[in-house]
Amino acid sequence: FNRNAFQNQLIDWFKKEQRILPWRENQDAYRVWVSEIMLQQTRVDTVIPYFNNFLEKFPTPEALAEAEEQEVLKAWEGLGYYSRARNLQNAVREVVEQYQGKVPDNKEQLGALKGVGPYTKGAILSIAFDQPEPAVDGNVMRVLSRILLVEDDIAKASTKSLFESLVLELISKEDPSAFNQGLMELGAIICTPKSPSCLLCPVQSECRAFMEGKERELPVKVSK
Ligand code: ADE
Repeated sequence: FNRNAFQNQLIDWFKKEQRILPWRENQDAYRVWVSEIMLQQTRVDTVIPYFNNFLEKFPTPEALAEAEEQEVLKAWEGLGYYSRARNLQNAVREVVEQYQGKVPDNKEQLGALKGVGPYTKGAILSIAFDQPEPAVDGNVMRVLSRILLVEDDIAKASTKSLFESLVLELISKEDPSAFNQGLMELGAIICTPKSPSCLLCPVQSECRAFMEGKERELPVKVSK
């Protein structure tokens, strides 16, 4: 396995082929945060109009902090999992009060915010602040389980930790943002669950599952 080749192939592909998505217009940490919370349980196509509307109504942390909770929930109506919206507003209020409205750029402060778990924290640190931190969700586990032929049960917490360690070793220090977003994008458009488009895959030459014809057997998901 050639880590350098993998990084370059993934990053070059992402830069060329990424979908134009509203939260990719700039690296503003508040926008990245809102998008990652919305994308956690909701698909990209559904999120787009909600994201645009939300940012129009609440363009800054200050605007969201000052809003009535009912207004925020109304903007979230249809997305579901409303605790995401309540936690986001509470956390943004904390950012306004404690950090003058600047989203923190370190693990400790970010991870202490309501609703900001390891995935969201890593996504914000890498995408908004260019820090080489893992952002591992189900899609990233699927992609990496195939590339590295990891047969551990992805339903286990210990497997998620394993993938976080692997990303720490693999991630580009030059462009952690394009690396992590490249993994997400690959999972969304090429390395899909049921019939991955391996023949179009930019990292085919580094994919162990493809070499062994096992891409459809991965990832392994046992418990529930
Ligand atoms: N899924 C999770 N995060 C995403 C992102 N930043 N872009 C596209 N899909 C995603």
